[in-house]
Amino acid sequence: MYCIRKVTEDLVWIGANNRQHPIFEAAYPVPRGMSFNSYLLLDEKTVVFDTVDRSVQTQFFENLEYALNGRKLDYIVVHHMEPDHAATLGDLMLRHPEARIVCNGKTVNMIRQFHWTDPQNAILMKEGDTLSTGRHTFTFVNAPMVHWPEVMVSYDSTDKILFSADAFGSFGALNGVLFADEVDFQRDWMDDARRYYTNIVGKYGPQVSALLAKASKLDIQMICPLHGPVWRKDLGVLIEKYAKWAAYQPEKEGVAIAFASIYGGTEAAANILACRLAERGIPVEMYDLTVTDPSYVVAAAFQYSHLVFASVTYNNGIFTAMENLLRDLAHHNLQNRKVALIQNGSWAPASGKLMAQLLDEMKGMTLLEAPVTLKSALAQGQETELDALAGVLAASVKGEEPAPAAQESQEKPRGFVCKICGFIYESDTLPDDYVCPICRRPASDFEPVQ
Ligand code: FEO
Repeated sequence: MYCIRKVTEDLVWIGANNRQHPIFEAAYPVPRGMSFNSYLLLDEKTVVFDTVDRSVQTQFFENLEYALNGRKLDYIVVHHMEPDHAATLGDLMLRHPEARIVCNGKTVNMIRQFHWTDPQNAILMKEGDTLSTGRHTFTFVNAPMVHWPEVMVSYDSTDKILFSADAFGSFGALNGVLFADEVDFQRDWMDDARRYYTNIVGKYGPQVSALLAKASKLDIQMICPLHGPVWRKDLGVLIEKYAKWAAYQPEKEGVAIAFASIYGGTEAAANILACRLAERGIPVEMYDLTVTDPSYVVAAAFQYSHLVFASVTYNNGIFTAMENLLRDLAHHNLQNRKVALIQNGSWAPASGKLMAQLLDEMKGMTLLEAPVTLKSALAQGQETELDALAGVLAASVKGEEPAPAAQESQEKPRGFVCKICGFIYESDTLPDDYVCPICRRPASDFEPVQ
């Protein structure tokens, strides 16, 4: 049974929602479901703007045939070839062989790759080319890497609508609503819009900025994305967020703490640090990486100005959940954050140094303090180190100079590490006759902690 909504007098939403697949793109949890938007223009010519994911094809084709009401299909505009939009393109070409594909050269190659067919009489669009459908004229604008290289958007200069492909989309099914002004977007959708942006196109900030610059020259009254609600009011709400996200600027001055704890010692330290920050009036969020999908933490890392990573040492390295997160953040090109670390290791804490190495490979990541080191759990009196770290973080969040404690901590002796087993002897000097208590190797097998 068809289920469509009018966007304007001659534009119809013919997309569909999937609430049964818990994972989108084999990677991201979507507990609120996912919408796959497609639009049909009923002008002198008829136009489908993108198709949908295979999982919702039945609904899509019912919607299309009902809305066409027996008219032939003249054009299929393909903005983006990723299969969550183009998986059903091949079927649509078979059902409507009369329709001409409107796309670019890169798209044609991908149609061949995905669908083993050559689109007949395709109309290839270059930057700035136009298509007239009667009352409407569409201008095509390239948007490479937002989110694939072939992506383009189109602008309807008649009704001032931007068909934005993946840009300005969101996770979440459309539960009867179509427009962003039909929901409390800030309260109910922004977190998923942020998680969608940061995880899907977060890596491509410069390309998103380039698209925003092109869009800023257009009089846009409506945005029709391929996921999530259509925007017809207060477009600046999401456009301003995109400008920040694309520039890797934090939205919020505060601290996101991500921790990976096995038996609770590291978590306890993270909890205490969070308390000391909250007492200082600093916004703080905590993420347990052992039970939280990394996509949520990637979104938080884009949102917050300051990040704390707390991890146990595992197999002489970083605990898997934390290592995965840090590599994920690097892959998403996160940059320009202030960072603090907590490491734990019962006999050879190494995660702090290794986390710092991974952060060092990312742009503009500033380590505020030497890592706080736990040996199994917080030692008696060690709460003062967390209090001092909270002070440094709070001062930095408030834009104040680092507290003196931060300088002292950075200068404290770091000891000597056993090259065989990783045990750390904490002292300024190492006795010549020292023997490693773990592996029984002599002092000659130790080296200064870097
Ligand atoms: Fe929604 Fe890049 O596909």
